[in-house]
Order: sequence, then C-alpha cells, then structure tokens
Amino acid sequence: MARVYIEELSHHVGNEVTLKGWLAGKRSSGKIHFLQVRDGTGVCQCVASLADLGAESFAAADHMGQETSLEVTGIVREDKRAPGGFELTMKSIAIKSPATDYPITNKEHGVAFLLDNRHLWIRSSRQHAILRVRSEVASACRDFFHERGFVLFDAPILTPTSCEGTTNLFELDYFGERKAYLTQSGQLYAEAGALAFGKVYCFGPTFRAEKSKTRRHLTEFWMVEPEVAYCDLDGDMELAEQFVSYIVGRVLERRSAELKTLERDTTRLRAAAQLPYPRISYDEAIERLKKKGVAVNWGDDFGGDEETALSEEFDRPVMVHRYPTACKAFYMKQDPTRPDVALCVDMLAPEGHGEIIGGGQREDDYETLRTKITSHGLPLAPFEWYLDLRRYGSVPHAGFGMGLERMTGWLCGIHHIRETVPFPRMMERLEP
Ligand code: 4AD
Ligand code: MG
Repeated sequence: MARVYIEELSHHVGNEVTLKGWLAGKRSSGKIHFLQVRDGTGVCQCVASLADLGAESFAAADHMGQETSLEVTGIVREDKRAPGGFELTMKSIAIKSPATDYPITNKEHGVAFLLDNRHLWIRSSRQHAILRVRSEVASACRDFFHERGFVLFDAPILTPTSCEGTTNLFELDYFGERKAYLTQSGQLYAEAGALAFGKVYCFGPTFRAEKSKTRRHLTEFWMVEPEVAYCDLDGDMELAEQFVSYIVGRVLERRSAELKTLERDTTRLRAAAQLPYPRISYDEAIERLKKKGVAVNWGDDFGGDEETALSEEFDRPVMVHRYPTACKAFYMKQDPTRPDVALCVDMLAPEGHGEIIGGGQREDDYETLRTKITSHGLPLAPFEWYLDLRRYGSVPHAGFGMGLERMTGWLCGIHHIRETVPFPRMMERLEP
C-alpha cells in the first residue's frame, strides 16, 4: 500500500493509502472511533467503524494510549469540517509500539515540567509550528545569501580569543596546556573570509555565558553573519533590511498554516515585508525615549525596556545607528566625523521583541585597531592574525549578525525565545 504523508493527502482523494505516525488523540461515539493521527507533516482524523475494521482491530483502536505508534490504511476523503480538510476511512490498523501514560496531556502543564520533557513537548502542535518556522527562517537565510553570490564560510567554534567582550566567555581546558573558548560570534573569521572571497556568511551556534535570565537570552544560540568587503555602514543597513524583509516575506508565504496555529496577528509582519525600514541615529533614539518619559542618558546602552519603547514607535523593524563608541566592541569603526560614535547598527524588531541584528562597519586601519585591542584590555598576540587583515590589503568592510532564535520568536509572536530552539540552553538549564 502506498505510504503517503498527511501534507500530501490532497493528491490522494478517493485512493487507498497508508499513514505512518502516532496517536495524537482520540474520541469515540461507541460505534465509531475518531483517531487523530499525526505523522510530523500534519494531523489527520482517521475514522474507524466496527464494520470496516472487524471486532479485534476495532477493540484495539479503542484502547491505545496517546503517542502509540501505528500505521493506518484506508480511503482518503475530502471533508471541509476535518482539521486538515481530509479524513481517512480506516480499513486496517497496525499498532507498532504501544504507549501508556504519556506525560503531556491536554491539561495545563507548568513550563518547568514542559522544559524537563522537551524531548516530548516538541511533538505538540504549538512547538511543532514554532520549530517549522525556525526551519523556514534558516533555509530562507541560506537562500538569500546564495542567490546573491555569498560564499558559505564556516567559522570555528573553538577559539583562542573573545570577540564580544570577555565577561561572558565559556572557557575550556584545551588538553591541559592552554585555555580555549566557545565562540561568541564568527565575525572575526568571516572578516578574513570577506577579504578572501568578497562576500561570505557564516551560520552556526554561538555561545555566551549570559548571567541574565531574560526572555531574550540563551547561552547557546544560532547566528547568521554576513560580511562584505568594500562595504560601509549604509551598504550594511541596506543588506540588513533586504535580508530581514526577505525572511518575513518567505515565512508569510510558506508558513501561514503555522502562524495560524500560533494565532499570530500577521498585520505587523506584513508591514515588515515592505521596504524601506526606518533608520534613526542613537542621538535621535535618546531624544525619542526622553520624550516618552524613559529615564536614559546619552552614553547608556539600551536594554530590553528601551528597545521595546523605541520599537513601539514604528510599524516595522527600526535600525538604530551610531551608538556611543564606549558601549561597543573593539572592532567597531569610529565615525570619522565624530569619534564618540561608532559606525554600527542594531535592528530592533517591532512589538517588543528586541534587538534581532547587531553589526556595522569594522575598523580597517591597522594602528587604530591595534590601539583599540589594547585599550579594551585584550592581549595582542592572539589577534595578530586579525591584524594581518589590516596589514595586507585592508579595505572598508562591514557585516552583521542575526540571531535565529530572536528572529523566530518575533515572527511567531512568542514571549520567551526558549521555545524557538529544539533544546534551549540557559543559565539554569542544561537538560535534556
Ligand atoms: O549584537 P551581537 O552581540 O553582535 C555580534 O556578535 C557581532 N559580532 C555580529 C556581527 O557583526 N557579525 O549579536 C548579534 C545578534 C543579536 O542581535 C541577537 O539577535 C543575537 O545575536 N543574540 C542573542 N540571541 C539569543 N541569546 C543571546 N544571549 C544573544 N546574544 C545575541
Ligand atoms: Mg548587540
């Protein structure tokens, strides 16, 4: 019998097919059992009657626990009332492996319990929708860069230095001989790639020993980081807005069913599929925040509250550029007309989802960079290779990093980004 996936049922109306999956739920009217079968691509209502199934199978179908694995064979029928628009009139059922007392039921569970059972929680429809959106975002990222001639340039995960400051580094013992660190960002390596290939991107896991327990911080998250030679801050912002609007458009187009499951209001997302995105300077951001009564002073870095207040003023993501040099990393290029600000940009998502992109133009002058490394309290020796990029054919170059989980969290409209990654890692959570 032809095995088909539930998402393909529309091509098989009237045919006999086999579904292979798990029991998501069931109800019974005595004479008929309605089994909700899921196979990872969708859920299909399978209708079992005594006459069609025979007494033995009919009785067995009534005693299966949630998440029992099974194969059902039957005829596909179109039914507008059924959840996915189709149902299966069952002819036979084969139980593969029975399950009893599945821990996640229809009743309300606390989030700690669900996180402890994350390996099972990912089977539920909401988690399913979120992780499918994540998968779509990741593939949209790759398509965007490949369509534009970027080379995938993977950065190492084990590194000898920090990239984003030394306060949140995960340190490892490297063969008892020296220290190594889990990468905070592939950027420094992507810069080497950009000077070799013109335009590159890296996409991989990054790590921050963040002691902040906010809804936007994980200790392990995925970042996609393009880097372009002969590019300045304006070019970087153009790339960032094209990139984000492309992803939004792609998710609206291909993941509308998942957004519906999540009850996501897509009006705000539609605006974010349009260009251009507003650009304001940090100076202007401070003025706007003060007008709104937020207590901030020039020189402060923005936290979640400031970002939320700013994003409320716009219908789509806003790019805030030229933050004070003092709040930013050593590699940022200072504005030549105003050394107190850096040629950097943060993109803030609407509806309080915070910073989804951070990036900017890199310091390309050898002497200035050397001085910055030292003034940030970093040792020069492990950065000699990085300084080589300024010794041999240095050019203006720029890039950014987008956090996959923050992006997914915004698109799905969910509160805490722990649900946007299969197995979240946070200060207080390493399991499962
Ligand atoms: O602003 P960040 O720290 O920038 C960098 O790491 C640059 N080196 C990137 C570059 O220019 N190539 O981080 C970039 C993005 C943030 O905007 C956010 O989306 C995400 O990475 N991010 C986090 N996501 C989840 N948990 C955390 N702890 C995150 N820290 C940053
Ligand atoms: Mg940042």
